Amino acid sequence: MTEKHHTAHHGKKKAEADKEWEPKIVGFLCNWCSYAGADLCGVSRFQYPTNIRLVRVMCSTRVSPHIVLEVFEAGADGILIGGCHLNDCHYMTGNYHTEKRVNLMKRLLREAGVDEGRLRLEWVSASEGEKFSKVVTEFTEEIQKLGPSKIHTDDMMKAKVAAADDASETFRLKALVGKEFNLLSKGNAYGDKLDPEKLSGIIDVATEEEFERALILELARIRPISVKQLGMVMEVPTDRILRHIVLLRQNSMIAMEHPEGFTPLYKTIEIGGEQ
Ligand code: FES
Repeated sequence: MTEKHHTAHHGKKKAEADKEWEPKIVGFLCNWCSYAGADLCGVSRFQYPTNIRLVRVMCSTRVSPHIVLEVFEAGADGILIGGCHLNDCHYMTGNYHTEKRVNLMKRLLREAGVDEGRLRLEWVSASEGEKFSKVVTEFTEEIQKLGPSKIHTDDMMKAKVAAADDASETFRLKALVGKEFNLLSKGNAYGDKLDPEKLSGIIDVATEEEFERALILELARIRPISVKQLGMVMEVPTDRILRHIVLLRQNSMIAMEHPEGFTPLYKTIEIGGEQ
């Protein structure tokens, strides 16, 4: 077969594969409202696409950024989180925290270059069976338009999502987002309420920095790498990379290899392992 024929053959096969592709969607639904809404939807015989696999959780706030990013890493094309309407959460303010966490997840997806439309948060009550069917139908159509997720086929995107996952587990982001709702509604230890825009700006900066540091560690884990190479691959100015490296070295997270006459290379220090 000539290369031209091979390309045409390959193109045809890809087009067929795309046509056959069906999105894989995971829905995390809280036990008290959305799961009951999904149940009612089934009992009332409202139709919805079968692409969704449902997971029952006790409250929407149990779905952490780590779980969401791991499910994307495992091959999901879209994730739906369903909870009780605001003020109806069985655990009082659980879903207010869910809102804040979903904002962080979307920030991290943006950093990783994943369309944030692949993640959706919806409030569905136990009596809204028809709404559940509508939400799943609309979301499936949206994911169909976005096409298959590239997270498990594109190595750079895979590294970025892994970095987003690591960033979501850092103390700084967990503490900031964990306290976000309280800081806005009750204020800090002195009772001063924070300006929502100012706090959002602080979280944006923290997310970007933690993501970049986590990505440096991901890339330097694969092979020793220079500041210049990191800057090029990550599309981040080298002075910024250097600042991250200084901090990572201070925290014994990255080691420098400096062969004489050559540019220094950096390698991630594995916890409990050798440099
Ligand atoms: S119990 Fe439903 S969102 Fe908390």
